[in-house]
Amino acid sequence: MIIGSNLVFCENLTSTNTQASELLKKNDIPEGTVVHSDFQTAGRGQPGNRWESEKGRNLLISVILYPGSVKPHEQFLISMTISLGICDFIDRHLPGSKVKWPNDIYVKDDKIAGVLIENSIMGDSIENTVAGIGLNINQEEFPGEIRNPVSLKMLTQKEYSRNICLNDLLSDLDKRYKLLLYGDRNSIRNEYVSRLYRFNEQHKYKAGKRTFTGRITDVSVSGILSITEENGKTSRFSFKEVDFLL
Ligand code: BTN
Repeated sequence: MIIGSNLVFCENLTSTNTQASELLKKNDIPEGTVVHSDFQTAGRGQPGNRWESEKGRNLLISVILYPGSVKPHEQFLISMTISLGICDFIDRHLPGSKVKWPNDIYVKDDKIAGVLIENSIMGDSIENTVAGIGLNINQEEFPGEIRNPVSLKMLTQKEYSRNICLNDLLSDLDKRYKLLLYGDRNSIRNEYVSRLYRFNEQHKYKAGKRTFTGRITDVSVSGILSITEENGKTSRFSFKEVDFLL
């Protein structure tokens, strides 16, 4: 086992990603070390967003990785791997989880988990990765400003042991990570693309001031999303360049 070989628990902290980055400043932190917590005072979401989570109800974890064989131009493979591992975990409990590009995990139209990957790049290699995951397990009420949150409990009406969930999630992430290190990377990308929320369906999108209808057709290993419009033209988008409309 790589992921989960070393667990670091702090009941309260600012952010598990911040704590993991602090650990990385010391020497010899084993690959697969997981920082986890009951409560974050400054949980971080995608740039510009916070991640808020009721104390002791969900999973808040950050995994330290050294994916040296993944080159910076293909770093989105790490996001794909982590997203698929979370979907594997959700599949244990209910069908149909999807990845909303770039790395929100959805069940139907609601968000059950968010991922914050922070790669430290030196020259042509990834020195280390902190993969932060917030996964909603038992929380039933969320503050008003969160648009469409959901938890496992809200979807199944069952209360979950967070310890069992943590072990299962780490085992699922570990299997996926080994495929990234030793397996076929094309199959990671293909599986990620086929798991995409709204894959190959006609929906409305907004890029800048332009609204258009198209189908998501691909995501590259650098994380670029391809949307093919009704007239056959394919446009490519980086993070934050396109909004999904209802
Ligand atoms: C997002 O959807 O905006 C990403 C959310 C990522 C939240 C997790 S919770 C554990 C880890 N620590 C953080 O501060 N953020 C990530």
